[in-house]
Amino acid sequence: MSMPAPPMGLLAELTHRCPLQCPYCSNPLELERAAGELDTATWLRVLDEAADLGVLQVHFSGGEPTARRDLPELVRRAAQRQLYSNLITSGVLLDERILAGLVEAGLDHVQLSFQDVETANAERIGGMAGAQAKKLAAAALIQRSGLPLTLNFVIHRQNVENLPAMIALGAELGAQRIEVAHVQYYGWGLVNRDALLPSRAQLDASTAEVEAARLRFKGRMVIDYVVPDYYAERPKACMGGWGRRFINITPAGKALPCHAAETLPGLVFPSVRDESLAAIWQRAPIFERYRGTDWMVEPCRSCERREIDWGGCRCQALALTGDAANADPACALSPHHGAMLTAIAEAAADTSSGFVYRRIGAAAKAEA
Ligand code: SF4
Ligand code: FES
Repeated sequence: MSMPAPPMGLLAELTHRCPLQCPYCSNPLELERAAGELDTATWLRVLDEAADLGVLQVHFSGGEPTARRDLPELVRRAAQRQLYSNLITSGVLLDERILAGLVEAGLDHVQLSFQDVETANAERIGGMAGAQAKKLAAAALIQRSGLPLTLNFVIHRQNVENLPAMIALGAELGAQRIEVAHVQYYGWGLVNRDALLPSRAQLDASTAEVEAARLRFKGRMVIDYVVPDYYAERPKACMGGWGRRFINITPAGKALPCHAAETLPGLVFPSVRDESLAAIWQRAPIFERYRGTDWMVEPCRSCERREIDWGGCRCQALALTGDAANADPACALSPHHGAMLTAIAEAAADTSSGFVYRRIGAAAKAEA
């Protein structure tokens, strides 16, 4: 049996603790409490094992990763092992002292998220009063530190009209890169889909805006753009293909092929507490389950795009068709593509703007 190539990136979800409560958070519906988090020594071992395995980048994420006091120690180890380190942060806990410690430890890059440019709407979406001023202060600190800065805007029907102002803010704050990402509808995003899914017209307008801005800022600022699957003809290669490019470690130490994999039933998720990262990546059944193309059913099995998009997203196939091995229903060739059209119609009929906020126990209560 040939060994899979090493993952390019490790997503280190250090904690699910976060002062914000965004209704599209990529964390699972069941959030981990602080008492269940990996300790520093285990994270340091995981970073060593990642470097030994051939991982190139570590994304320190959460929740809010700066809620972990040992973050500088973890960043330092990543730097010592030549792992490119990226901090994915909301910025609301960042101050001069914390940032200086991270710079000194060798941090390479910061990705700072904003919920909107309008303060009242941003703070309503994130569920935290006072957050916007803290984020703007964090952006200024990062810019002064000389670290490369990416601004992340998650867009949806309740903020998409402000996209031009978001891009202008990115330029004003000196960002090298902006990521404009439509909400992905798994986990909390799926719970809140009817309140978030944009119309086709909103999606088309945002795509045109991004294309025009790319021309305006050519050579000065890069703009990445992630579209929602719901209006697609073909799916994205979710995570670059299952078990091909990324490995996620949850706050409790579970190793997952994607952030939503725990929604897949009947699978055992290995833990870095018990096994090495290499053993998990190379041999754990969960990573083997949908790696490559052998697991595919029709229409993917005989499709010419099967090694381009790898059948799309397993978690979306499960959520919308009941079977993770089906073609992602985002694909127009899928017999389940109608599920997308139904969801679009349902979201269009729903005029509410209320959210189920990301909180321990909130999703269960909403579904009850
Ligand atoms: Fe991708 Fe499967 Fe659709 Fe082909 S049939 S484009 S492999 S999802
Ligand atoms: Fe799990 Fe796409 S989110 S495979």
